[in-house]
Amino acid sequence: MKAESTKEKVLNILKDHTSTFISGEEIAKQLFVTRNAVFKGVNALREQGYEIEAVSRKGYRLCSREDELTATGIRRFLGVEAQKVEIQVYDEVTSTNDIAREHILSGSEKEVLVVSDSQSAGRGRKGRYFHSPKGTGLYMSLGIYPKIRVEEAALITCMTAVAVTRAMEEVAGINPKIKWVNDIYYKNKKIAGILTEGATSLEDGSLNYAIVGIGINLYEPSEGFPQEIKKIAGTMFSDGALLPQMRNKLCAAILSHFMDLYHNKGEFLKSYREKSFLIGKYVKVNPATEGPKDRTYALVTGIDDAARLLIQYEDGTKDALFTGEVSVVEY
Ligand code: BTN
Repeated sequence: MKAESTKEKVLNILKDHTSTFISGEEIAKQLFVTRNAVFKGVNALREQGYEIEAVSRKGYRLCSREDELTATGIRRFLGVEAQKVEIQVYDEVTSTNDIAREHILSGSEKEVLVVSDSQSAGRGRKGRYFHSPKGTGLYMSLGIYPKIRVEEAALITCMTAVAVTRAMEEVAGINPKIKWVNDIYYKNKKIAGILTEGATSLEDGSLNYAIVGIGINLYEPSEGFPQEIKKIAGTMFSDGALLPQMRNKLCAAILSHFMDLYHNKGEFLKSYREKSFLIGKYVKVNPATEGPKDRTYALVTGIDDAARLLIQYEDGTKDALFTGEVSVVEY
């Protein structure tokens, strides 16, 4: 029998550590060879076509295709209602919301799901940048034609938040919370955000279409999160290992739960309230938010049927916020 070369032994070690980093020093120790021999082995593997990431102070990681996003992979896990939706999957786009809008403006009357492995110009609410690196997140947009008035659009965001949390519970067994109106929190960190965009008919104030964009951090990017979001950004999974089919399953579960609520007019506000991260907490109301400028701190008492946040200021005054931002007060 032919003895394994250093290159093959390096490959086996990398495979044993699927998608977690292992240092060159550790590989060298396990194989009783020098770090230079490991380095040469890694280069030979790359020449053979293996994708191996190298990050300083972390080591090497074999890029696994295990959690690859594909249209067939997503379809395999879809519920009945969601099967009718057209699915488009890309490696990289500017923003999946843009591609979904192009689809709608091209005259298609079919509901569409656009998914991408990465986004070069992902955006969040208030024009903020949404970090969308390759391989570690799920970036998806749904193009739909809801027969509602523009004032009711916030309800679509709430329905989506419920679909996202239900899907996360189902496929990953985690129990995330919803921070009014569009953020998903897990272990006190933001793991997902929702951006609903649309166009209104000037004639009757109804929505012509809506694009529901969902961005989720499943795994920590190998280079970590950018400095600006490091403090608040979290991930669904913490040990770095990619899970087979997870993004396809999660995407399919979100679409299935959403379509079920949307077409079958399912109840979602009760779940939205139950999963609320804010009800019962003291918050600081962002000064840019509507409402009196002289009052800042308030208790969140509920969420009404129009998705408004019900608050009570320290002086007893009650208010209902339509939009804006609040942050939880730490004591
Ligand atoms: C937010 O946190 O304010 C909302 C983030 C929404 C991000 C998603 S990722 C898919 C879709 N495409 C975008 O450009 N944005 C949304």
